[in-house]
Formats: sequence, C-alpha cells, structure tokens
Amino acid sequence: MSDPQPVYLSDYQPPDYLVTHTELTFDLDPTATRVKARLHIERNPAAALSAPLVLDGENLTLVSLGLDGTALEERDYVVSDTTLRIEHVPERFCLESEVEIDPNSNTALEGLYRSSGMYCTQCEAEGFRRITYYPDRPDVMATFKVTVIGDPAREPVLLANGNRVEQGERDGRHFAVWEDPHPKPCYLFALVAGDLCKTSDRFTTQSGREVALEIWVEEENLDKTGHAMASLKRAMAWDETTYGREYDLDLFMIVAVNDFNMGAMENKGLNIFNSAAVLTHPDTATDAAFQNVEGIVAHEYFHNWSGNRVTCRDWFQLSLKEGFTVFRDQCFSADTNSAPVKRIQDVSFFRTAQFAEDAGPTAHPVRPDHYIEITNFYTLTIYEKGAEVVRMLCNLIGWEAFRRGADRYFERFDGCAATIEDFVGCMEDASGERLDQFMRWYSQAGTPEVDAFGEYDYVHGEYRLTLRQRTPATPGQNEKLPLHVPVRLGLVGTKSGQDLTLTLDGESLGKEGVIHLRQAEQTFVFENVAEAPVPSLLRGFSAPVLLHYPYSREELAFLLTHDSDGFNRWDAGQRLSMLALDDLIAAHRNGVEKVMDTRVVEAFRTLLDGEVSDKAVLAEMLTLPTEAYIAEQQRIVDVDAIHAAREFMRQSLAVALRDEFIATYEANASDEPYAPTPEQIATRSLKNVALAYLMAIEDAKGLELCQAQFAAGRNMTDVRQALTLLVHSDRQDLAAPALKTFGEKWAHDSLVMDQWFTVQVTRPQPDVLERVEYLMDHPAFSIKNPNKVRALIGAFTQNRVNFHRLDGQGYRLLADVVIELNRLNPEIAARLITPLTRWQRFDESRQALMRQELARIKKEPLSSNVYEVVEKALA
Ligand code: TRP
Ligand code: ZN
Repeated sequence: MSDPQPVYLSDYQPPDYLVTHTELTFDLDPTATRVKARLHIERNPAAALSAPLVLDGENLTLVSLGLDGTALEERDYVVSDTTLRIEHVPERFCLESEVEIDPNSNTALEGLYRSSGMYCTQCEAEGFRRITYYPDRPDVMATFKVTVIGDPAREPVLLANGNRVEQGERDGRHFAVWEDPHPKPCYLFALVAGDLCKTSDRFTTQSGREVALEIWVEEENLDKTGHAMASLKRAMAWDETTYGREYDLDLFMIVAVNDFNMGAMENKGLNIFNSAAVLTHPDTATDAAFQNVEGIVAHEYFHNWSGNRVTCRDWFQLSLKEGFTVFRDQCFSADTNSAPVKRIQDVSFFRTAQFAEDAGPTAHPVRPDHYIEITNFYTLTIYEKGAEVVRMLCNLIGWEAFRRGADRYFERFDGCAATIEDFVGCMEDASGERLDQFMRWYSQAGTPEVDAFGEYDYVHGEYRLTLRQRTPATPGQNEKLPLHVPVRLGLVGTKSGQDLTLTLDGESLGKEGVIHLRQAEQTFVFENVAEAPVPSLLRGFSAPVLLHYPYSREELAFLLTHDSDGFNRWDAGQRLSMLALDDLIAAHRNGVEKVMDTRVVEAFRTLLDGEVSDKAVLAEMLTLPTEAYIAEQQRIVDVDAIHAAREFMRQSLAVALRDEFIATYEANASDEPYAPTPEQIATRSLKNVALAYLMAIEDAKGLELCQAQFAAGRNMTDVRQALTLLVHSDRQDLAAPALKTFGEKWAHDSLVMDQWFTVQVTRPQPDVLERVEYLMDHPAFSIKNPNKVRALIGAFTQNRVNFHRLDGQGYRLLADVVIELNRLNPEIAARLITPLTRWQRFDESRQALMRQELARIKKEPLSSNVYEVVEKALA
C-alpha cells in the first residue's frame, strides 16, 4: 500500500455535481443494514459537460445501482475502495443505489455504528461515505427525506433529522419517515434507533414559534437530563437576545450515547452527545461536569446558525464554524457564570495545551493549507485559537460593529457554504476597518512572543512602552510576518493604586485602552502620566501571545492587589508564583535547600484575609500553576524538579497558613441542597481548594475534614475531591477502603466509574503504572469505549511523574494501547499519541525512549490518522 497523500487548500475546485434532494431508506440490521439512496443530482452549471460523476464510499457492499429507473450494468461504472465512478451521466437525473453495511463491526465510531445496543451515526467530517455513495463534501447541500425501518421491540424509537412526517408498521417491522426542509451537507445527517426514553419541554421563540424539546436517554438516566434541558433553554434565549438568531424547526432533539469519539455533534435538529457531555446528577457529576455540560449543550445549539445554516465550503475552513462557535459558547458561559473565572479557566487551559501544540511538531495555522486526515485537525488550534482570533476581531471593531458583521454574515450566506474570507469580509464591511494584516492570524502557525519594556520619564511625565513581536518558525513555515496584535492595557499608578488616564498622541483613551501593535517593533509614548506606573498589559488576554515583561516581585504583588482587571490580577499572582517556583526548581537541581519566598506567602495571606470578594476568582488565585503549565515555561522540561518544587510550595503555604485554610474551609462548608449555581459552585471551589492545602501536609485536622467530607456524601463535587485527596495522599490505609466503597457503590454507573479510574491513575506517587495495567483488566474498562480510554490511559499520560518514568515503561504502555487502537479506532489512537510527539522538550534519555516507541508504532500497518501524526513527530 502506498503512503497516504495530503489534500491541499489550493487545489479546491467547486463540485461538478450537486445533490438537490436526498431520499434514504435504512432497513436496520445489526450486521447487514440495507441503505437505499435516491439522489436527485444536477450538473453544476460551472462544470464541464463531460465531467464524470465521482461519489465517495468506504466499507460499502454495493447491492444495486440504477439511473432514472434503469438498472446500471457493471460496465457502466467503476467501484474502488473509496469511490464509485460513472463516466457519462445526464444533466439532471436520479441515481438509485442500494448498499449493505455492518454496524456491529464498526469500532471506528464513524458512519452508522452501535452503542449499548442502539444504532447511531457520526458523520462529521467524512463519515457519511461509510453509509452510502455520496459526494461527501460540505459544499454539496441537499434537503433530506429519511425512512428508518426497525424492529419494534429492539428499537422502539426511530429518529432522524427534521420533522417526523409519517410512521407505521408493516410485516412485523415498524418505520418512521423524517423530513428536513433545510438544505444541509451530509456531515449533518443523523439517525438514532433504540430503546430510549425522553424528557420533554417546550420553548417559544421570539417570533412565536413553538418548539418541542426532547432529550433521549437510556431509561436509567432519565433523572440526569434536567440540567442539560435548562441549559438548552438558556442557550436558545441567549442566541435570540445576543445575536438575534432563533431556532428554525418545530422540534429539537438531543440523544445521549455511551460510545462517542468527541464531546457532541450538531446534526440538524438531532444533536448527538457523548453521555458524559449531557448527563448530570448532583450525586454523580461534579460542578466542573455541570459547567461542561452547559457549555457543550450551548455550543452544539449555537452551531445551528454558525455551522448549519451557514456551513463551511471545505474542511480547511473548519475554524469558520468551530472558532466562531467556541467564542459564542465562551461568551454564553461567561454571561451565565462568573465571567472572570470563565476567562481564567479558558486562558490557563489555552496557555498550557494550545501553546504546547503550537510549539510542537503538529503545529498548524487556524486555517491549515494541507492535511492527510481531517479528523486529526479537530484541534486546540482550530477550536480555541480560532475562538481567540474571533474574540480579537470583536475587540478590534467593537461589539456593535461585530454584531452588524455577524448579522450580515448570517444573512448573506444563509444556506451557503462559506469561507473565512467571507466571514472576515463581513466584519470589514460592517466596521470600515482594514483587516488584511489581521488575516495572517489565520495563515501563520506558532505562538507570537511579545517582549515589552516600559520606562517612566519623571521630567516630562511620559511613559514609553516598547513592544517587540516575533513568531517562531514552525514546521513548513520558517519566515513569519508581523501580526496585528491588539494589546488592552492600563497603567496603574504606584502612588494612587488607580488606573491612570491614557493619553496617546494627544488623544485620550480613558483609563483602559487598546493599542495596536502592527510592526515588528513599536514604541508608544503615553503623555501626562502624573506618577510612576506599573503597566497592566494584555488585559483579559486580549491576544493569544506569550508576553514577556521584566516585572519585579514587588510589582507583581502590587498588581495582585491593585489591578482593576480581574484576569490580570490573577495573572500577576501566577507570575509571582512562577518566579518563586523557578527558584525552587533551581534549588532542587543544584541540590541545595529549598527556601520558600515569603512574598508569596504574604500575598496568599492577604488574599485569604478577604481581599477578593468573588469567591470563584479567589479559588483560582489560590491555585498554583499546574505542572503542565510550569513545564511549558521550560525549554527542556525537568519533570521531577517541577513536581518537587510545586509540592514544596504547596506544603510551605499549607504550613504557614494552616489556620487560615481551616477557617476558609469552615466558613464555606454548607449543607444547603445542591444546586449548580455560580454562588454555590464558587463556595465549594474555595472550600475544596482549602482542603487540598490542608491535605498537602496530611495533619490530623486535614485528614479528619477530608474523611468526614467523603463520608457525608453530599454531592459528587465534594465526594470526588475528598476521594482524590485521600488517594493522592500517603495514607493508603485510609484511601483503600474509600476507593472500595466508592467503586462498589457506583459499579452500575459507567460515568462515575470513569471518575474512579481517573482518580487512581492521577496519583502523583511513582507507583501508578502497575495500577493502570491492573485497571485495564477491570470489568468496567473497555478499550473500545473512548470515554474509558480517556479516563484511564489519557489521564495516566497527564500524570507527569509516572508517565515520564525513566525506565520508559509509561511510554511503552501508551504505545501498546495506540497500536491496538490503531486497528479499532484510528481517530482516538491518533489523539492519544500526542504526549509522545512532544519528545523534543525532554532530556536526552527520555527523548530516546519516546522516539523508540514512536518508531515501534511506525512499523505497524498504520491508519492514515496515526500515520500522519507519527510522520510529523519523527520528521
Ligand atoms: N462538530 C463537533 C463539535 O465541535 C465535533 C465532532 C463531534 C467531531 N464528533 C466528531 C469531529 C467526530 C470529528 C469527528 O461540536
Ligand atoms: Zn463545534
């Protein structure tokens, strides 16, 4: 077999043939489902008269083929592993085909497959070609009419996109007919059939349309749908008030499935969700899970406009729908919860995981210009950096112009397949701002670094700020051009502690402003600056860059208490902790005694004394940078020194502030009945952060509080935190019975068992590998279920001390799993390898061990997914 070949954006050609209407009939069978398709096809006026018809198709057994009612002979067409080609076709015609497919043996979870006995589909990006022969590309949009025929006992519920127009029984089978009047690309097609129960509700849109809302789940999960339903209604209302967009069908359905490669999928009118992204109950889901569900329900709903009504011309434009929709769901969650905390959480994740992707061998622009396997490009860069780029656009032109631009985009491209230029063009038209330099954000990979220097001139009352930008080379892109970087800033007066008025070139920007860095280096001179300021730069993380400013610890402590921007106050604390951690890491390396920086202790004491009124923000401020984040700051990662330094810091803080943490714990313990409200979530976070510090020293009081919290069993947030702290402690005599109780109590609940796995394999003591191997044989584990793989193997690879063991056994275990998954589920296999691709960042012996495992994977007969990642990693 030849190596898989890349596809290039520059090769894009409009389709030769369009499908205007698609009729499908599914006769469901576990191993031999029959799919009949009637495709109403027209030649694209722009295409050549002689163009052959080429349809995509994979793993299909062709049963029959006809054109306008006449059966085609074998010499009329050519079938290959991936296509069906007919040399001569009329201008308009109806193509009739029948194929057989095998849902039971579909472990890739793309196309039609089975999950816990039910039938379901996943077609994005290119899964529809595993269902029937079709032009499987997003710029071919058709109306659909779908008939689903099934066994009334085994699959009493038969669902597809749109509105149900007919149902009935025939010959001991039953059927339902669904019509979707909105033209859509085939990646938005969905079908579900199984023994499901629903929760129903209603929503009236702003124009008065009555929409029935349904969430379909297995019967035992009916008590876990309330939060998703409430979130859905909030999201529907938010999109009306914020973007003026309302829903466009009479029915909106969500289905929960247990086996799913990603979080959820926005199929028109029939969103399919990973059960982990929709089911919640106070006893089984943590606060974080509740918030995650709210965000994902909103995300998929928002796609109805940003993705479905206006879709992507080709998969290179993926961020057009994903970046914009992530931005929309982030704003929704910020409006519904604590806005600064939402931003803090998103940015700390972004700076850890997306920065790492952008610095590694799989770095790619927000709009890639080539790919081998599109499913490898559902990345943090496409989603999260794409969202940051849209956020910058919004901040550059202001919300009002942005909203006008969005209106224009939705109106002009309704029912069309659009490009990133179309979107940015609407923003240009609506604002009058030139955005050509801004477009480089879409084409240049890598994280730009911005060096800032400030100087205060007492004599002239001037503050000179110099900004210098450069973007490091990334694979295939050596030269980078300067970007248009919006820097939101304030100057905080060191005497007054207040934001000073910003005056640039005689013009006042108020107390906070945005300056535009466009050149490689630029100096901004602020006039009439009455006192020496400390600059507060990149407020709210106004651009996805790595900012360097030589802050002293005194300046950071000052910003921590005086910055008017909540996000930057948090960031100042993180920078202060980082400086202290750097000292501790150096001490660890040099084998000298570690000494805790008292400025950090005092800063924490001030925080605990009640400086911050938002408890959710306070909980974030009391949380040290993660090991992964610290590692991102080092060129060569010192796994053990990072762990030792961070542990030393946690313990020093706990010793110095023990009484404060006990007081914080007690002041925030509550026996109110659980609700996922921002207030309650904030209180629980703060309490649980305090408990984590107390457990860092494992003294009698901490252990007592932790055991009591576990035993009280108030809600999963508190129980899981207590269990985690016990399991991650040295007191295995206390941890073992807690784990056993928990495991037995929740053996019937798959999503809770996922948490049980994760808690065990994230233990920082260096003894976890054997536990992972043991748990892989546990009856609740299955390598075929992506949630299990993520909960056990994925979580283990994030356990830095254990995964990066010096004997290479952590790497070996991961490679073994990747080799097995390469055959079963290539999409998940390719994602799971990521930590091995980061070998350049480790010491030589680890580098050698990681490369050795990559080379071992490479010897296998590889899926295009794994092939692409391994090739890049070893290039
Ligand atoms: N469009 C989905 C989302 O972001 C992503 C998705 C769900 C997906 N399942 C997938 C992408 C499977 C590729 C393969 O909302
Ligand atoms: Zn999405």
